[in-house]
Amino acid sequence: MESVKGISSEKEFAIRKGLYLAGLEGVVCDYYNNHAQDYEEYSTITGRTVGALELAKAVARTNPDKDATILDVCAGTGLAGEQLKKLGYTKVDALDFSQAMLDLAKSKNIYRNYICDSVQLHKNNQIDDGAYNILCMNGGMLPGHITPDMLPEFTRITKHGGSIVFNITEASLKCYPGFSEEVVENALNSFVADGSWTSWTKVTANYFGKTGEQCIIYTAIVS
Ligand SMILES: C[S@@+](CC[C@H](N)C(=O)[O-])C[C@H]1O[C@@H](n2cnc3c(N)ncnc32)[C@H](O)[C@@H]1O
Repeated sequence: MESVKGISSEKEFAIRKGLYLAGLEGVVCDYYNNHAQDYEEYSTITGRTVGALELAKAVARTNPDKDATILDVCAGTGLAGEQLKKLGYTKVDALDFSQAMLDLAKSKNIYRNYICDSVQLHKNNQIDDGAYNILCMNGGMLPGHITPDMLPEFTRITKHGGSIVFNITEASLKCYPGFSEEVVENALNSFVADGSWTSWTKVTANYFGKTGEQCIIYTAIVS
């Protein structure tokens, strides 16, 4: 089996699963700060570029305007940003709480701005209301990362009529309590019911190019 610095992909997944379920922001942030290069290698070995490309294509379906302003939340080393750039988007900013992950993305000259900050339940003071046409997130909906109850902060940052596009892998939907399809979609329905969103849709797409594991991509339209 292929490995990241001697750790098999399965073991790597098990380690990260434990870490995520601990759910402590500082611990998760430290993990990414200490493993940015390993994470990049893990993404290459598992073919996560496929999932990032599918997410970028979903962004293009919801807003083909290449001048649209986009915030890539949990941007990491820039996997999704790279694909958005290839599709021609020019105003893509990165937000991530790990400076090491952002530094790696910066070395590849992917984004317009690099915002080192955390998305939480409370308001992020660095970003104005309605600042972006699109918020996207590849692989960030996870325990200890972004949870569905943080989506109101995504909504605040997105323009009226703008879109929020994010994915969740099949593995996450199955193995993390609180991230099942039913729980997530109940949360999404509540944002339509309270008038924050006009609608949401979902499509299934490839995520891990190596194994063919799928994800669901959700697209919401902000009221
Ligand atoms: C699984 S990685 C995904 C990275 C990138 N989107 C990709 O597809 O390769 C999750 C990223 O989210 C960042 N992150 C996790 N929770 C966060 C939060 N609450 N606020 C900001 N960044 C966060 C981590 O530092 C890490 O870079």
